[in-house]
This record gives sequence, structure tokens and C-alpha cells, in this order.
Amino acid sequence: MDILVTGADGQLGHWMRNVSSRSGDRYVFTDVRRSADGKVDMLDITDAQAVSDAVGSLRPGVIVNCAAYTDVDKAEDEPEKADLLNRMAVGNLAAAARDSGAVLIHVSTDYVFGKGSCNVPLREDSAGTPACVYGHTKLLGEEAVKASGCRYVIMRTSWLYSEYGRNFLKTMLSLTASEPEVKVVFDQVGTPTYAADLAGAVHAMIESREYEGKYGIYHYSDEGVCSWFDFAVTIARYAGHSACRIVPCRSSEFPSKAVRPSYSVLDKGRFKAAFGMDVPYWTDSLARCMRNMGCMD
Ligand SMILES: NC(=O)c1ccc[n+]([C@@H]2O[C@H](COP(=O)([O-])OP(=O)(O)OC[C@H]3O[C@@H](n4cnc5c(N)ncnc54)[C@H](OP(=O)(O)O)[C@@H]3O)[C@@H](O)[C@H]2O)c1
Repeated sequence: MDILVTGADGQLGHWMRNVSSRSGDRYVFTDVRRSADGKVDMLDITDAQAVSDAVGSLRPGVIVNCAAYTDVDKAEDEPEKADLLNRMAVGNLAAAARDSGAVLIHVSTDYVFGKGSCNVPLREDSAGTPACVYGHTKLLGEEAVKASGCRYVIMRTSWLYSEYGRNFLKTMLSLTASEPEVKVVFDQVGTPTYAADLAGAVHAMIESREYEGKYGIYHYSDEGVCSWFDFAVTIARYAGHSACRIVPCRSSEFPSKAVRPSYSVLDKGRFKAAFGMDVPYWTDSLARCMRNMGCMD
């Protein structure tokens, strides 16, 4: 079977490339620009004709969409750009999947939740309550997939990090190495997810073909719960950055353009019941990532 991966130069896309390297399926990796090493072809998913042509000629069994507009604060200033990529372009992929008979595995976010406060892990059927442009456009992207009539699996995930691209882990590694003190919010609670773990779960789903007949929305994050403050403290401890004092603060002391959820822990019960996969605990995965990066013994 052929598998088309979009956004293959991002965090998750990179890990899709790593985990599928020994697959018997043929993976075709694409991103908005061709990579220098030629391993990633160009496919701009906002270009409906290009998407239709690519899917029409490849006839993939599965399309994995890892592409997104992911700059949460910048999206507040560029809502049209976020909408184009997170809603319109997702509609292009879903239409192409429907027309060609491919299954679309689309990745979404815990930020489809966020208005109001709660302290119960969020289920797939909990109503979307996005509090920022990014979350709103991602929710509309999910709705475009559902409305298209294609067979789909939507994987909502949270707090993605990896050795690739820009993310909280890398920011904290840099700040805690150079600053005497760093303030981090303790009133936003969720679960960090190593992109390797999510890519591994998606890849296992494709290898086993277990997605067949199990279409719908699933929640996938690593196991456990923490605040961004806890995440930062653990990063600094693992890196041995003991000279930096990490101070918990409230979101109100740390104004950002986008309003983020105060609690966005995802309930993974449906995913575990459907696919029977073990989910790693977040600190174990963080240690694995930091060892891969060479910043932990
Ligand atoms: N990052 C998180 O904390 C987080 C949390 C929850 C859910 N998610 C979701 O998880 C998924 C993967 O996130 P990620 O962190 O791996 O994202 P990422 O690192 O930002 O990667 C997205 C990739 O898509 C590419 N892209 C941009 N415009 C495109 C276009 N028009 N056509 C094709 N590709 C395009 C980007 O290229 P450029 O870099 O050149 O723009 C980038 O390589 C996304 O759906 C995201 O919403 C992420």
C-alpha cells in the first residue's frame, strides 16, 4: 500500500519518517517545500488542484496529515492564514481522500477545548470549546473532515515536543541554561507528548490496518498529567541545569496573545480500547527524547 504523508518536515512528520523506515508499505513524504536531501517532495496542501493531482496519481491507501499552522500566538494576528491551512487545506485533503477512496488520518489538538474550566479528562464526544484562533481553526478542520464523507481517523494530541523544530522542550533547555530565573505557568494543566510516541501509534495503526472499521475521533497523548511548570522543572532536572530557578506563576502574570486551556488533559480510553496499545508515561518519554538529543546521560 502507498501512504502519503503531508507536513513531513515538521515534528510529527519527521517522526513518521523515522518510524516507517522499515515498513513494507511505500511512504511518500511531502511538505510545503522540497527538502534539500530530496527525501521530502513538495506538496502545498492549500493548493486544491495540487492535492487532487497528487492523490489522483499516487492513489494512496492512507493519507496522514501532519501539516498545520501551529504558531498559536501568531494565529491571533493571522487568522486567515491559520484558517487556510487548518480548515481549508484539510478540506482539500478530505475531498481527495473521499474521491480516491483513501483513509485520512488527520491530527488535531487539545486546543479544540479551552473555554471555561474543568478538571475531568476530556473525551472525544466532549463539546469543542476553543478559546483561541488556532484551536478554533483546528476544530473547523475536524468538521471539514467529518462533513467530507471520507473515511477518517482524527487523532487529537497535546503539548507535542521532539528533537525537531521549535517546541517548549527546546525553549526551556535554552532558557534554563542561560537565565538565572525563569517563570513558568502552573495553572495550565495537560500532558506532554513525544512526537515519536504519536508517530509510533499512527504507524502501528497503519501496519496492522486496525483503523479499518474503527473510523472516528481518538485522543492520544502520553500518559500522566502535569502543568507547564512541572514540565519545565523536569526538563531542567534531567538536563542538570540546576543554576536556574524555575518559579511558578499564573497565566495572568504571563500575558500571551492567545488564550490557552487551563485544563486540557485528554481521556485516551477510546484509543486504548480500540487499538490495545501501551502508552508511555510522559517523564519516561521525555528522558528518551533528551537522551536522543544528547542532553541527558
Ligand atoms: N506542536 C504542538 O504542541 C501540538 C499540540 C497538539 C496538536 N498538534 C497538532 O499536531 C500536528 C503536528 O504538529 P507539529 O508540531 O508536528 O507541527 P509542525 O512542526 O509545525 O509541522 C507542520 C509542518 O507543516 C508544514 N506546512 C506548512 N504549511 C504547509 C502547506 N501549505 N502544505 C504542506 N505543509 C505545510 C510546515 O512547514 P513550515 O514549518 O515551513 O511552515 C511544517 O513542516 C498538527 O496537526 C498540530 O496541530 C501540535
